Amino acid sequence: MRLKNCYKTADFRALAKQRLPSAIFHYIDGGADDEVTLHRNTEAFNAVNLIPNVLAGVDKIDLTTHVLGRELAMPLFFSPTAMQRLFHHDGETAVAAAAEKFGTMFGVSTIGTRSIEELGAITDAPKLFQIYIHNDTALTNDLMARCKEAKFDALALTVDTIVAGNRERDYLTGMTTPPSLTPSSLLSFAMHPEWTINYLLREKFDLPNVSRYTATGSKVESSVIDYINTQMKRSIDWDDAAKMIEEWGGPFAIKGIMSVDDAKRSVEAGASAIMISNHGGRQLDGARAPFDQLQAIVDAVGGQIEIIVDGGIRRGTHVLKALAMGATACSGGRMYLYALAGAGAAGVERAMGLLRTEMERDMLLMGCENISMLNRSMLARLPGG
Ligand code: LAC
Repeated sequence: MRLKNCYKTADFRALAKQRLPSAIFHYIDGGADDEVTLHRNTEAFNAVNLIPNVLAGVDKIDLTTHVLGRELAMPLFFSPTAMQRLFHHDGETAVAAAAEKFGTMFGVSTIGTRSIEELGAITDAPKLFQIYIHNDTALTNDLMARCKEAKFDALALTVDTIVAGNRERDYLTGMTTPPSLTPSSLLSFAMHPEWTINYLLREKFDLPNVSRYTATGSKVESSVIDYINTQMKRSIDWDDAAKMIEEWGGPFAIKGIMSVDDAKRSVEAGASAIMISNHGGRQLDGARAPFDQLQAIVDAVGGQIEIIVDGGIRRGTHVLKALAMGATACSGGRMYLYALAGAGAAGVERAMGLLRTEMERDMLLMGCENISMLNRSMLARLPGG
């Protein structure tokens, strides 16, 4: 597979599989338990059909939306994801550049591989920092202060990862950060020389947002599963969320909301947005797909809070379906991570560019000039869907 032949996420996935040592590929690709939720996330979109209106006189498409205090030129953005420089040495910088190019937002993970300060300095693109509440309160407070200083637009508190999902592929491959040197990992590194040379010769692996507080996962080898299980505060509750929203004092999303009750509580807690998400099927397997929950959540809290759908987005039509159901915007991880892993900055740009072109083409075919024209009359659920 070559980058110029990549058109859809499955193509970028094939490219990533070719280029990455197996532990790293499976870390991106895998989900929890039997990966039922991982697959359902995309299938949910395919269980609903679009009904276009024709002869609509559409010409120029306006994909603009507003998310977390910023105008986005398109209703799709980069979800925060961990470890990006492990996938490709371009890492978070490539995602920031693509966000700037397309006028959209990018998320930065607490366990990202470029610092809050560096990313704050290199771009004015809308920036979301994904925060976990750690056992170490000083670490959590430090992250918030650094984000304020670096002028991040918004925080997203991840609430679905108080314990790591059962990611059996990671047990089998022995995925750790930094990567551990075992006979099987060495063999896999030898079989992927381009990745390995870059990993060895480029800037050393680090988790600069947390490594001043904990060596776990940066100086001390650790699986992401162990990191989550030892560092995250399990007992977080609505008081913690409300306190953080107040302390931050700016646009704030709660990431990992699935139930209608929790969507209502997010409004009460003062959040600006919810990200309906099951963490890409990496946490609770058997959890419902975000798109399947969207209708009920929009009916309960639509108009009171921004609603972002994260999970399973692979096509422009998936975004249009979510917007027609009442979402404010969509975001995704694997939709750009395979491309990053496969081809760095050029890959991310191509993947997001293709999705933008798809959205524009799909809007023309739907007879809609701007996203506020999309509505539920344009959706039909398949029998049994
Ligand atoms: C993941 C966490 C770290 O691996 O976001 O899914």
